[in-house]
Amino acid sequence: MAKRGGAGVPLLAAALPVLLSWVVVSSVASAEARLQVGYYHRTCPRAEDLIRNIVLAAIRRDPGNGPGLVRLFFHDCFVRGCDASVLLDTAPGSNATSVEKASQANNPSLRGFAVINRAKRVLERRCRRTVSCADILAFAARDACRLMGGIDFAVPAGRRDGRVSNVSEVLGNLPGPFANASNLVGAFAAKNLTADDMVTLSGAHSFGRSHCSAFSFRLYPQIAGDLNATYGRDLRRRCPAATGRRDRVVDLDPRTELLLDNQYYRNVQTREVLFTSDVTLLSQNDTAALVDLYARNRTLWKSRFAAAMVKMGHLDVLTGSQGEIRKFCNRVN
Ligand code: HEM
Ligand SMILES: *[C@@H]1O[C@H](CO)[C@@H](O)[C@H](O)[C@H]1NC(C)=O
Ligand SMILES: *[C@@H]1O[C@H](CO)[C@@H](O)[C@H](O)[C@H]1NC(C)=O
Ligand SMILES: *[C@@H]1O[C@H](CO)[C@@H](O)[C@H](O)[C@H]1NC(C)=O
Ligand SMILES: *[C@@H]1O[C@H](CO)[C@@H](O)[C@H](O)[C@H]1NC(C)=O
Ligand SMILES: *[C@@H]1O[C@H](CO)[C@@H](O)[C@H](O)[C@H]1NC(C)=O
Ligand SMILES: *[C@@H]1O[C@H](CO)[C@@H](O)[C@H](O)[C@H]1NC(C)=O
Ligand SMILES: *[C@@H]1O[C@H](CO)[C@@H](O)[C@H](O)[C@H]1NC(C)=O
Repeated sequence: MAKRGGAGVPLLAAALPVLLSWVVVSSVASAEARLQVGYYHRTCPRAEDLIRNIVLAAIRRDPGNGPGLVRLFFHDCFVRGCDASVLLDTAPGSNATSVEKASQANNPSLRGFAVINRAKRVLERRCRRTVSCADILAFAARDACRLMGGIDFAVPAGRRDGRVSNVSEVLGNLPGPFANASNLVGAFAAKNLTADDMVTLSGAHSFGRSHCSAFSFRLYPQIAGDLNATYGRDLRRRCPAATGRRDRVVDLDPRTELLLDNQYYRNVQTREVLFTSDVTLLSQNDTAALVDLYARNRTLWKSRFAAAMVKMGHLDVLTGSQGEIRKFCNRVN
């Protein structure tokens, strides 16, 4: 491994998740070796601290920023890699309606953009043109996991920012809420992620919210057979059928909506989950067995989740002289 052993590791106490994620990072493909923990150790030593404080303040102001940032990271990484393409308002040859942000998978539901932009402003003042937006997003998603789930891990960095963002690439890469298990396994396999990674990362649906429009197909005209009937009736009250109304929001986890924890897997087992893509984890033996394991062992899920976030964070990254370091995260230089 060409990895310079964790210059930044002392920053983040050597907790178990850190060690576990380290092992995983070290054992995967060479493309992944190009990122390093502690990447800004010399060029911007306070970068991770500054981001952490901004994320903390943002979550105090509105806890929804936490899940917002974690989802933002997922949607960035799955479309053109973790290159901050999801943050762009426009790009060369693209405009506000043709960038990723404009996709129905992203608009209007993605949130957390302002947190990233704020962090970028602060970092530009401290360390001009040094910290990429793609890395800021990766660090911020990690900080959200720590603050709302007690899940901490070291984030290898050195990503650079892309200059392309194309709405037509979104729906083919991100699975929808109606996806079945084979769709999900396929969508993750397309990113070199396993079915286990998929089940593990789906645990992110243990906090945050959904708009009713994303799952109303399971409520009307009748409550879907694979939705807990009691929960389904409750959801019908929260999401009235009439069209033309404002698209309301519902917690993804009806029990601990502010906590990133393994409650999600218990909700899957009682079919108290919003999406087909959640309940479908019960439809295959392997994924169902993992749901059961995680439902019973929070510690195990947390360490696997940390490792899977690190793995996802390596998707198609730009490094070296590829891309650029943006000055503003919402536009190319
Ligand atoms: C497995 C396939 C997945 C599907 C089909 C899916 C689908 C969705 C949908 C439809 C929403 C609701 C958006 C809205 O209407 O506001 C949502 C929310 C969310 N998703 Fe996923 N998702 C998947 C995987 C993931 C992964 C891998 C992560 C992160 C690791 C993630 C993190 C989140 C979070 C945190 C929210 C709440 C966002 C907020 O509160 O703003 N999801 N997801
Ligand atoms: C976006 O992708 C479409 C379909 O592949 C392509 O025709 C279009 O030129 C792309 N736009 C930009 C700005 O890259
Ligand atoms: C935005 O870009 C798309 C394709 O790149 C084009 O079809 C559309 O007309 C443009 N819209 C505006 C308002 O310029
Ligand atoms: C999953 O959905 C696809 C269509 O997206 C369908 O072709 C396939 O048969 C479904 N698989 C199962 C097991 O239902
Ligand atoms: C997945 O792995 C294959 C083979 O190692 C590689 O060619 C491809 O670029 C990888 N894809 C992603 C999205 O990392
Ligand atoms: C529906 O949810 C309730 C409450 O959690 C649970 O007791 C019941 O077993 C669930 N039903 C199914 C079919 O999972
Ligand atoms: C998977 O479950 C089916 C029943 O749903 C069973 O027949 C089959 O043997 C199981 N396969 C494995 C590999 O456990
Ligand atoms: C839960 O998983 C951890 C590994 O993360 C293991 O050490 C522990 O024994 C497991 N606990 C139970 C109750 O199985």
